[in-house]
Amino acid sequence: MSATIPILDLTAQYAALQEEIEAAAVRVLRSGRYVLGPEVEALEAGLGAMLGLGHVVSCASGTDALSLALRALGVGPGDEILVPAFTFAAPAEAAALTGASPVFVDIDPDTFLIDPESCRAAVSDRTRAVVVVHLFGRPANVAAVREAVGPEIAIVEDCAQSFGAKTAGQATGTFGQVASFSFFPSKNLGACGDGGAVATGDPELAERLRALRNHGSRQPYHHETLGLNSRLDELQAAILRVKLPHVTEWNNKRRLLAEHYTEMLQQQEGIRAPESVEGHVWHQYTLLSPRRDALQEQLAEDGMESRVYYPIPLHQQEAYAQWASGVSLPATEQVCQQCLSLPMFPELQPALVERICASIARAHT
Ligand SMILES: Cc1ncc(COP(=O)(O)O)c(C=O)c1O
Repeated sequence: MSATIPILDLTAQYAALQEEIEAAAVRVLRSGRYVLGPEVEALEAGLGAMLGLGHVVSCASGTDALSLALRALGVGPGDEILVPAFTFAAPAEAAALTGASPVFVDIDPDTFLIDPESCRAAVSDRTRAVVVVHLFGRPANVAAVREAVGPEIAIVEDCAQSFGAKTAGQATGTFGQVASFSFFPSKNLGACGDGGAVATGDPELAERLRALRNHGSRQPYHHETLGLNSRLDELQAAILRVKLPHVTEWNNKRRLLAEHYTEMLQQQEGIRAPESVEGHVWHQYTLLSPRRDALQEQLAEDGMESRVYYPIPLHQQEAYAQWASGVSLPATEQVCQQCLSLPMFPELQPALVERICASIARAHT
């Protein structure tokens, strides 16, 4: 049966902003400037103002943003980078592609976020950086990670899922040395294609990032270092500029929907609803259940989509086997068995949340 309630519906957001998005796209198409032009510059300024960070360097994806951040920090062969094993693969992939070794660390099963104690135990004299992922939109405690790893180790914040999230009024992305963002269409701020950005308060790091995203070049045809071709195009920048002023309102809607889910699920035996904390932007609403697979089957039978983010811990993935021999991360492994993400997007109707929760209740009776 095809899903009547999708996990994500991007058409509703497009319909609401259709005229503005199409006008922005036509403006770019007619301008003759398609890569790294005035739209990109204006977007970078707008992102910097919203985040409260001096330097935003856009690029082609959130994965490239991580690669650029690590390379700008000087990470390379012989270094070790701490990465959580419960997240999308990009942080481990970016670390490995610099020639460094990803070192997998565990999460706190109550928050799904990197566990500072697991970081403390994993630090060695080769550790250069730790990637703190603000997973599912929940701000991680960067100060606790900093305390655990010490001041010499760089903190890279992965904000791919946390655009607009805050801790005590301060945006995620502003706590570490450098932060990466993704504008993949499904993200809280999503383009109509791939896109990303790196942000930092450090002007020298920003200068290196600008060169690295453009073939290691500050001046055309002068290459000081090996870089990437990782530039944002004007079409995506113009579309993101239309969406940027709406993100706070969208995140508020996500928060209300999450509260509605939790209200309905918290009395449900066998379900662990995610905790609501201030500043959370609910990229995903992810619960834990020992009967996760039965739950997912019931939802599918009732025409409701759900997803397992993430089914296989990164230290158990084939691609990362060489860095994971003998690694055991109990919280990550258990969460991968029990986690289930429910439909979440700002335009989701509260009545549909109620139908989803009723289906979950059926699976548990
Ligand atoms: C936590 C995390 N980091 C990085 C990325 C990579 O972003 P992109 O898909 O834009 O390369 C993603 C994308 O799903 C992500 O969820």
